[in-house]
Amino acid sequence: MEAYRDPSKPVEERVEDLLRRMTLEEKIGQMCQYSAHMGLSERLKELVRKGLVGSLLNVVGVENVNEIQRIAVEESRLGIPLLLGLDVIHGYKTIFPIPLALASSWDPEVVERATAIAAREAAAEGIRWTFAPMLDIARDPRWGRIAEGFGEDPYLASVMAWAAVKGFQGDRLSSDPEKIAACAKHYVAYGGAEGGRDYNTVDISERTLREVYMPPFKSAVAAGVATVMSAFNDLNGIPASANEFTLRKMLKGEWGFQGFVVSDWNAIGELVVHGIAADAAEAAKLAVAAGVDMDMEGDVYRRHLLELVKRGEVPEQLIDEAVRRILRVKFLLGLFENPYADPERAKRVVKRGEHFEAALEIARKCIVLAKNEGVLPLSKSLRRIAVIGPLADDRDAPLGCWRALGDPRDAVTVLEGVRKKVPHAEVLYAKGCDVRSEDRSGFEEAVEAARRAEAVVLVVGESADMSGEAASRAYLDLPGVQEELVKAVWEAVKGRGVPVVEVVMSGRPLSIKWSAEHIPAIVIAWHLGVRAGDAIADVLFGDYNPGGKLPVTWPRTVGQVPIYYNHKRTGRPPGPDRFTSKYIDEDWRPLFPFGHGLSYTRFEYSDLSVEPEEVEPGATVSVAVTVRNAGGREGDEVVQLYVRDVAASVTRPVMELKGFKRVHLKPGESKRVIFRMPTQLLAFYGRDMAPIIEAGDYEVMVGSSSEDIRLRGKFKVTRTAKLEDLRSVWFTKVEV
Ligand code: NOJ
Repeated sequence: MEAYRDPSKPVEERVEDLLRRMTLEEKIGQMCQYSAHMGLSERLKELVRKGLVGSLLNVVGVENVNEIQRIAVEESRLGIPLLLGLDVIHGYKTIFPIPLALASSWDPEVVERATAIAAREAAAEGIRWTFAPMLDIARDPRWGRIAEGFGEDPYLASVMAWAAVKGFQGDRLSSDPEKIAACAKHYVAYGGAEGGRDYNTVDISERTLREVYMPPFKSAVAAGVATVMSAFNDLNGIPASANEFTLRKMLKGEWGFQGFVVSDWNAIGELVVHGIAADAAEAAKLAVAAGVDMDMEGDVYRRHLLELVKRGEVPEQLIDEAVRRILRVKFLLGLFENPYADPERAKRVVKRGEHFEAALEIARKCIVLAKNEGVLPLSKSLRRIAVIGPLADDRDAPLGCWRALGDPRDAVTVLEGVRKKVPHAEVLYAKGCDVRSEDRSGFEEAVEAARRAEAVVLVVGESADMSGEAASRAYLDLPGVQEELVKAVWEAVKGRGVPVVEVVMSGRPLSIKWSAEHIPAIVIAWHLGVRAGDAIADVLFGDYNPGGKLPVTWPRTVGQVPIYYNHKRTGRPPGPDRFTSKYIDEDWRPLFPFGHGLSYTRFEYSDLSVEPEEVEPGATVSVAVTVRNAGGREGDEVVQLYVRDVAASVTRPVMELKGFKRVHLKPGESKRVIFRMPTQLLAFYGRDMAPIIEAGDYEVMVGSSSEDIRLRGKFKVTRTAKLEDLRSVWFTKVEV
């Protein structure tokens, strides 16, 4: 048996053995990925047979997977299996909340659980690679892809990145049939698109790049992510898919990334459109030199690399390096031993009952109660309830963007959830209007339903296709005439003591200022997945006490964007004086701040201790606080730890999240939460762009949101130290 076929041999030996046997064409073949979204064409099969394809995306169904794999394994010269990928972002067939919602749980176990189930289902049908997690920090809700990521904060996103990689891959990439390779995307700074317009230019400082946009990727690499996707965007003059600095120097060099880099869809071909390559051949040369190992759907590598190597313009050793990386992932996944999917296993695993149960438990944890003036929870003895709005009985919106093979018929709507919850009540349903049209003809029916009801639940927001890729918005209001519908319903019932709740489903923060000022209760539900309606009904009627918190700031108006909590201080922080940093026509503060989320109970914070008062760089600061449930219901609180570097050699944010813990407390119960914060987390890039921890005073803030700080303390770092002289640390350890 050839060494590469022998599973008892070490992976590196198998890689080298196989590489030696490959022709240059076959090597380049491994670097090519094509989409089978139109099905398995004869042309595609022929390319696979010739050994000219390394990976396919969008091959779906066990039969198709096995058919194409059989051609690769049995009919190609060396029998190298294909790596089959799909966008399994928040579920495969059992669809979970969108990633922005998952981040609202502030619970990495939630992310790990959702991604582990997604991996199990995908793997069962032969998909061993997902293009997730999406780790782009997003400070601009106009950008539709904010829905796909974990929000605005580098620390929260880094913790979730780690959890997602573990969920998809397990502790390390292996042949475990329940696990798949993850892909950290879109590397890098794609979320910084100017104007929030998708695919647009990004021009940010190296400091912002390293301190804000890089950390989640670094965290994913530290967690062992198998692949990274190079982004579409131009970054400070150099497109991300031709960027030697970010790919070769940082990712593969400084961070020691051992997996491979796949370009985003035709991102190599688009180097020509960016205007940094005269033609596709030059684009191929730039991308391969920068460190892009696989060309997604561009067909640029297949058409040009051979010629470029022959002409001596691309050293063959660059090709070898890329192929090594790709083969390594294939060997680690056990594809050579187990290339096929087992249809019987797929039937047992996919969409099984416990996955739908998990979808409910997870969805509940992601709901954010943004406002509640004594309205929620609703009483189950209400006799007549109006459920109104274009999304009230919509099965599609809950699945959100990128729903892989999710089926809207599996989704539970809010109307259904409410009906199940209060079977004896009369539930009046009126759509009122469509999500986006100008048609107001349904208002009358909606107003009539509201007038007759003892409680009103409005379900408004965005349809699934309004966020995700190529779904940037110039307005952040409720689309169409939905705000008018909300106003009309409110006018009809206000002053009559009828509880009115607005449930907002969306893939981004919306500027619902009018609602926040008038409607007494607001529930932020995002797009919650297949069990959306059940989870929302549980919250509305108090069977689940909401504990989610916002992972992203909600603005009052689009004019405030970009607006995020960890902003710089400015020389003139906003204040009563005119000549300070604010607006003359709108409050400078957000509608709902980062970290915000209410509960049906009340939490009290006490006994903050910060130890030691003076700490050496590299040592740990312990921040402890007691949290007590002072209300009458059990519930969850997310205890948040923020730090402010009082004075530094470069300007620092007003505050930064450095730790958090979601705790569950029964009425009257209290817990001591202890954050063990390594001082490494205080590091930043100094004037010379070297990461340092600086001597000086640090303020500690602990609270229930970035604007609801309950207790403050401080400590001092005794001396300045270079980060590279210390162990690198990723997260605060939290004990309860
Ligand atoms: C383009 C998107 O930007 C990326 O996120 C996705 O993974 C690929 N298409 C593949 O569908």
